[in-house]
Amino acid sequence: MTTLTPTSNPPAAAPAGQSALPGAPAVPPGLPDPAALARLAGAFFSALPGTSPAAVQSPPLVNNPAPPGSPVAGPGGTGTGVPGAAIPQGRVPGANLLPAAPTHVLSLPNRAPSLAPSAVAQNGLPDTVVTVVPALESRFGGQALGVPQAAAPAPQASAAPAYYFLEGAGRDLHGGSAGLREIGSFGDPLSLHLPRQGQAARQAPAVHGYGHDRAGQQTLPWASSQARVPFDVNAIRRDFPILQERVNGRQLVWFDNAATTHKPQSVIDRLAYFYAHENSNIHRAAHALAGRATDAYEAARSKVQRFIGAASPEEIVFVRGTTEAINLIAKTWGAKHVGEGDEIIVSHLEHHANIVPWQQLAAQTGARLRVIPVDDSGQVLLDEYRKLLNDRTRIVSVTQVSNALGTVVPVREIVEMAHRAGACALVDGAQSVSHMRVDVQAIDADFFVFSGHKVFGPTGIGVVYGKRALLEDMPPWQGGGNMIADVTFERTVFQPPPNRFEAGTGNIADAVGLGAALDYVERVGIENIARYEHDLLEYATRLLQPIPGVRLVGTARDKASVLSFVLKGYETEEVGKALNEEGIAVRSGHHCAQPILRRFGLEATVRPSLAFYNTTDEVDQLISVVRRLSGRR
Ligand code: ALA
Repeated sequence: MTTLTPTSNPPAAAPAGQSALPGAPAVPPGLPDPAALARLAGAFFSALPGTSPAAVQSPPLVNNPAPPGSPVAGPGGTGTGVPGAAIPQGRVPGANLLPAAPTHVLSLPNRAPSLAPSAVAQNGLPDTVVTVVPALESRFGGQALGVPQAAAPAPQASAAPAYYFLEGAGRDLHGGSAGLREIGSFGDPLSLHLPRQGQAARQAPAVHGYGHDRAGQQTLPWASSQARVPFDVNAIRRDFPILQERVNGRQLVWFDNAATTHKPQSVIDRLAYFYAHENSNIHRAAHALAGRATDAYEAARSKVQRFIGAASPEEIVFVRGTTEAINLIAKTWGAKHVGEGDEIIVSHLEHHANIVPWQQLAAQTGARLRVIPVDDSGQVLLDEYRKLLNDRTRIVSVTQVSNALGTVVPVREIVEMAHRAGACALVDGAQSVSHMRVDVQAIDADFFVFSGHKVFGPTGIGVVYGKRALLEDMPPWQGGGNMIADVTFERTVFQPPPNRFEAGTGNIADAVGLGAALDYVERVGIENIARYEHDLLEYATRLLQPIPGVRLVGTARDKASVLSFVLKGYETEEVGKALNEEGIAVRSGHHCAQPILRRFGLEATVRPSLAFYNTTDEVDQLISVVRRLSGRR
């Protein structure tokens, strides 16, 4: 075993009395430099059993450990993110790397959140090209913290990352291909350019341009609007620690993304950082931490605004999730604008959360709920919808992507038709925001709602977007602190939106975590995600559909993420259990969308749902279990 001593790598060590990190306290002569110690500790802990430390990339130290945009990156490179506020604990993040206790080398609360995903950004360059790994980068920090990754198998990723090459989008899943590519047979995903987990793509397809490294060597292709963009799924997978979990002796395969998504390390770190350095209630106290917490919370609101294309942050209200969001609208806007004899339109595809609040409103007011039917593929029938619209229609509330079938609903047309009839339109984005670019102004939705946990953020945080004029016209929902401008026993003056709808102490940390999740998605590029997932869904569909006994439920031309199916001779629960035995997580049941399943004569389906960290290998594993079951009965 290689012995590590502080002198084993002298060039990176700062001279005695100085710190390798600017602004860090001077190290007394004779004591080792904290930064050098941290580097050595990182190398030591990242050496898995049987691996020579030399073979393991130890995180290089950098002078400014805070990536641009990090809440610890101020104008000078470090800071709190709160203008004028002191660096947490009066120290440069990362300067406190000396063990605080024998069992800890890096102190998690003092690590800068790693906001940069390792995956490729829209510039088309994978992290191997563009990322200067911060010393405190979470993927290494997790190992240094003793997170039990050693118990899991070493990541299969080889030194050469696998790239999925993005090219023309717009193909459909069921034969309507624009003819861009042939789909490979089972076991040959490379003809799709979808890499196997841990493998490089067989060959890089033609590209339109290459970058060059400093030595002038040709490197990976640059992105341009026409170029095929490399999408490094293995790098993305390394950002999600839970994907290394073992279930029933197998590496976890997470195909339950429609129920909830996993969190990248940057989100996990951001939450820890909030509680370690910024935790306070917001808006009220005039002390430093209240300022930090308020800034972090409001920054998250602005990130949501940009992510969905809202006109201003005041149009973004934080709530617990999509369910609460729809309830808020039904109980405020609905109570004010829907009366006896009025009509509310939903589609047959809706989740219970977009049915029950409207039913309750209808029961209270004497309004009527009307339902847009779907065709046999699971797509809404626009002609039937047109017939439902009339001058009693007050609101049309539809999902953008069906959680049970995966249908992508033409919400722009639906909103436009609602407006022409003089009605308001709500779009439920719970299942869409993680899969496609959403622009609420382009859709012209009056309301748009989604949940943080379905877009790689925390649970317990969600969003109501409402056009400003509508929100200003809406009465508050809950009353209490935070939402008032002035209170006497005689009357209360309410705050304008969004505070008017955020009574009490909100879920501050998780809003901040949602902001970090959206940052992550933006850095990978939502268009890249959409194209990769589209091809993965296409690959899975072509393999699943022909298996004897499989009935795919939901075969619309435009689909995202979801493959709902039943298997002849099996209860859906049996299929779910058989998959779980192989470490594959899917949801089986009614998916909180009973009406649409009953439309297809079913009470339940098996529902694998994909995300951009899934791979063709994982799809193959699922297919092999379903084939095995199919062959038995
Ligand atoms: N709405 C979530 C799902 O579809 C829970 O599974």
